[in-house]
Amino acid sequence: MAKKLYIRTFGCQMNEYDSDKMADVLDAAGGATLVDAPEEADIILFNTCSVREKAQERVFHDLGRVRELKAARPDLIVGVGGCVASQEGAGIVRRAPYVDVVFGPQTLHRLPALIERRRASGQAQVDVSFPAIEKFDHLPPPRVEGAAAFVSVMEGCSKYCTFCVVPYTRGEEVSRPLDDVLVEIADLAQQGVMEVTLLGQNVNAYRGGTGDGVADFASLIEHVAEIPGIERIRYTTSHPREMTQRLIDLHGACAALAPQLHLPVQSGSDRVLAAMKRGYTALEYKSIVRRLRAARPDLALTSDFIVGFPGETDRDFEATMRLVDEVGFDGSFSFLYSARPGTPAAELPGAVPREVAQARLERLQAALEATYRANSEAQVGRHLRVLVTGAAAKNDAELAGRAPDNRVVNFAGAPELVGTYADVAVTRAYPHSLRGELRRANGSADDAR
Ligand code: SAM
Ligand code: F3S
Repeated sequence: MAKKLYIRTFGCQMNEYDSDKMADVLDAAGGATLVDAPEEADIILFNTCSVREKAQERVFHDLGRVRELKAARPDLIVGVGGCVASQEGAGIVRRAPYVDVVFGPQTLHRLPALIERRRASGQAQVDVSFPAIEKFDHLPPPRVEGAAAFVSVMEGCSKYCTFCVVPYTRGEEVSRPLDDVLVEIADLAQQGVMEVTLLGQNVNAYRGGTGDGVADFASLIEHVAEIPGIERIRYTTSHPREMTQRLIDLHGACAALAPQLHLPVQSGSDRVLAAMKRGYTALEYKSIVRRLRAARPDLALTSDFIVGFPGETDRDFEATMRLVDEVGFDGSFSFLYSARPGTPAAELPGAVPREVAQARLERLQAALEATYRANSEAQVGRHLRVLVTGAAAKNDAELAGRAPDNRVVNFAGAPELVGTYADVAVTRAYPHSLRGELRRANGSADDAR
């Protein structure tokens, strides 16, 4: 009988993707249906994040709540995967002895075997190794839900920014072979997928084997754009250091590339950028943006910022504010610096007092929010080609879709439109979405793509 599976996901889009894959492998190995509450489940999995301390602590807090369930039902399986698992390994079982399996981002395909071994031996199983790219060869074919899909093209990160745990928890950059990615996307397209997001921790560092050579990220995009049925391509997350001129030019030349890019900058101060080991200056970052906008004037650019990095002065922070002002980001994520054990920055002197960092964060967020709002307002009156993804979040009777720049657009329309493109006129801007009126189903628009 199919097992009931509950997965709690913390952190980034890579984790969201990995959680889907966990459900797929367990389903392929004997049947698993997802349930919404841990109380109903036979298997409870936590897919964890350790990028900031808060996320990490939440995992142990939530795990504590499962303890009683396990006490009441000893054959319940409790698993911990993701980056905390990768970092702490067997330490998780020592801290929470009711955990049955611990697995890393690169060993999630071994979940059925780990659970099996746990049942047979009565012993908790821990496997947080990095067996290169083996994972992808052991995953069942992707299940399609809707017309948009994520496709992982590379894993890990070799940049070693001084504040970040990712290279230690997910391992170094490893790319999937070009053909594997293309076959997967062609398969998705045949099942009705029209929009793909190429996913990786550092996706533009992609170097996929081609049999007799290596394809870079720009070549990968060119190939994906040729797959019949694929209308729109997005990618995340990219690194400024890997933004080659060829990739920049592609933003102008490849019509399928969405006019949207998430390009983390972290800080506008060269001193801080050097201490973070980001590998570029503020001027170099601005030069990339200038060239991107020359190629694609309507590009919506978002970013990540860290505020309160050790040694960050008022002057450094003002440099960040200036950069924000000059670039005009279309909203962004911004975080308080969180010292992560084992990273070089955790050893740096010059901790910024919490109140100072908090005040800086609020100023930064207000500035980012203001541009986002202004850009949303500017869309009112425009026609957008929207991929209809499903019912609107707050009103089942309405539809929601994704605009070219990835904003959510809500509008009234027939459910049959789900999974197709529609031409929608924007009538109002809200803080986190746009409202529109359907103009044409499957239509082309003045702002096509
Ligand atoms: N690969 C991405 C890149 O190119 O920078 C970033 C991946 S990281 C998981 C996502 C974001 O979390 C980073 O861009 C950074 O802003 C933030 N982050 C990472 N480590 C952090 C830390 N120790 N404290 C606060 N924020 C952090
Ligand atoms: Fe982390 Fe820097 Fe890589 S932020 S994911 S080490 S690019």
